[in-house]
Amino acid sequence: MTKIASQVVAELTRQFNQELSAAHAYRALSLWCEQANLKGFARYFAKQAGEELEHAAKMTSHLIDRGVLPQEQAIPAPKTEFESLLELARQAQAMEERNTQGINAVYEAALQTKDYAVQVLMHWFINEQVEEEAWCLEMVERIEAATCAGGLSDLDRHIERYLEEGENK
Ligand SMILES: [Fe+2]
Ligand SMILES: [Fe+2]
Repeated sequence: MTKIASQVVAELTRQFNQELSAAHAYRALSLWCEQANLKGFARYFAKQAGEELEHAAKMTSHLIDRGVLPQEQAIPAPKTEFESLLELARQAQAMEERNTQGINAVYEAALQTKDYAVQVLMHWFINEQVEEEAWCLEMVERIEAATCAGGLSDLDRHIERYLEEGENK
């Protein structure tokens, strides 16, 4: 295996830390939902936090396989206060849009340096982000539509099934 270029190491390092910070942020969303008695949303976001840790691990394993010790960076404090579930959902959506930009930046560095292994690694992430943005959009639209009395707690009971069915489409 050819030596990994420094700009690819820099991009993968930035991105695996972004995945860790996404995990941290999803945990905050989960806690907010838990205290608001939205237990379905709380469970769903807790699961997302776990998935973001797995994403980081895929990248750190690749760095280690290529002889590079991954460098963890400081994780900024996430937003913890929200006016409403809709504001919270839009924040998750914006975060996933930034994640997609970050993934694309890693891929771009891999293209420029002809790093085929990182290109293939990033194919999985590029596909994953299509799903992540899709469930965020569905979530925002379903919350916007849940305006009648009892609509939100009804949505909370079904949200995991809705969004997970979407992921497995
Ligand atoms: Fe991710
Ligand atoms: Fe994500």
